[in-house]
Amino acid sequence: MGRTSIERVSTSTSLHPDSVSTLDVNAVVIGVTSGPSGPVLAPGAEEVDRALGGGLAASLGAIGATGDAEEINRLPTSGALSAPLVLVVGLGKAPKGDFDPETLRRAAGAALRALAGRDRVAVALPARTDAEAEAVALGALLGNYAYLRYRTNGSRRPPVGEVVFTLPAPGAEAALRRAEALAGAVHLVRDLVNAAPCDLHPEDLAATAEEVGRTAGLEVEVLDEAALVEGGYGGIVGVGQGSANPPRLVRIAYRHPSATKTLALIGKGITFDSGGLSLKPSTSMETMKSDMGGAAAVLAAMQAIAALAPAVNVVGYLAIAENMPSGTAQRPSDVLTIYGGTTVEVLNTDAEGRLVMADALVRATEDEPDLMIDVATLTGAQMVALGNRVSAVMGNTDDARTGVTDAAGRAGESVWPMPLPPELRKSLDSTVADIANVSGERWGGMLVAGIFLKEFVPADVAWAHIDIAGPSFNSGEPYGYTPKGGTGVAARTLVQIAEDLASAAI
Ligand code: BES
Ligand code: MN
Ligand code: ZN
Repeated sequence: MGRTSIERVSTSTSLHPDSVSTLDVNAVVIGVTSGPSGPVLAPGAEEVDRALGGGLAASLGAIGATGDAEEINRLPTSGALSAPLVLVVGLGKAPKGDFDPETLRRAAGAALRALAGRDRVAVALPARTDAEAEAVALGALLGNYAYLRYRTNGSRRPPVGEVVFTLPAPGAEAALRRAEALAGAVHLVRDLVNAAPCDLHPEDLAATAEEVGRTAGLEVEVLDEAALVEGGYGGIVGVGQGSANPPRLVRIAYRHPSATKTLALIGKGITFDSGGLSLKPSTSMETMKSDMGGAAAVLAAMQAIAALAPAVNVVGYLAIAENMPSGTAQRPSDVLTIYGGTTVEVLNTDAEGRLVMADALVRATEDEPDLMIDVATLTGAQMVALGNRVSAVMGNTDDARTGVTDAAGRAGESVWPMPLPPELRKSLDSTVADIANVSGERWGGMLVAGIFLKEFVPADVAWAHIDIAGPSFNSGEPYGYTPKGGTGVAARTLVQIAEDLASAAI
């Protein structure tokens, strides 16, 4: 097993705007909407319909198709097309104007999931505008994912090897390139989250970051355990000290010659969270390999930002440690000193994310960012509040928080604003240190964690904190373009924020 953890064979893509009926593919994907009196073919399906004799909508009605969102129907072509199969995916009610991008992404993703195992597939979904084209391409690529690293018996079908897109939109090429950059980022996060924690120790995650960063032409700096002790990163050192696998802090920098602003991205990279001496119940540990989802999202966003080249400087920090119990582990009531000098009484070693993030937040302020965004699988309370599909954002200014919810919406991710009530700060008062890492308070755990992080951000630096505890890992069934396991959440939002900052939208 190598020290780095990227093993993807990425999907190859091509653009072929016309004659989908003569393409040498295993299947053609078309869309159908739900009309008042049955299914209605969506734009893009015309040629397939003609080749099949013009009665496709009626045939679909006859087999009970409704056109509801993500409904899948398969039709044999019996030689009427080069492809033996037409896969028809539902798009819900037809919109008045353009299709909603998320509807297209989910439909394309569901279609590609249904076609796993095929070599070559054509996608002829509605893509008359550039936004529609990007959504179709991105959804298809996001849905075309499988994590096969540990499969030895061929029982799982691999993703489709090649996707041919029709995409009639004028800016189809650029749309496809952007979709590929974003999908590559999301796939990287999923691969890293899905990797078994025995194969992704802190040094492996740091080595992967080095490889990804260098390949993308970025500047990468890794602090090892000795450098972290020497540098005074007490949070990362404290959390990592119970593990045989020492911690790391990675800094990745992207620079643009005409940038006027700097964005700092900070990600929580706990490669496994056992809770430490404040040990978690064993069932709660089952998904704790995903506790580095924030760091993975930051790394992946840096990769996509390097590819898309927005006019902004971006610096990414990955705060990486393994939280384990042992004779060298930190104890409840230990006091550690965060980078910059603030002391923290560690009353619960399972509230470790905020400790590693505090170091990284303080370090990131040295880059004098105009905006800081941190991403962390920080609290179980996030899941209690918002469930598995909606992330939470808190922040020290309305603009920072709104900038994130707005960017997320445009990127196709769900993020909901949450407050940081100042009165919660006193619940973190420590008997001995500047602050405690947990409160005695039973409620509002997500907000308390946010209040803790806020302590480490200067009041004059715009900052938002995204808690992705629930959305980072899908323990349920796949849906739309989201597989089981690592979802890749937040990477797309971070890229959008960088682009927004480049165009001065926030
Ligand atoms: N990594 C967990 C949060 C988490 C829980 C992420 C479930 C994803 C799914 C975090 O380090 C943690 O353990 N938080 C504690 C904090 C508590 C001790 C104050 C929690 O939420 O229970
Ligand atoms: Mn924890
Ligand atoms: Zn954690």
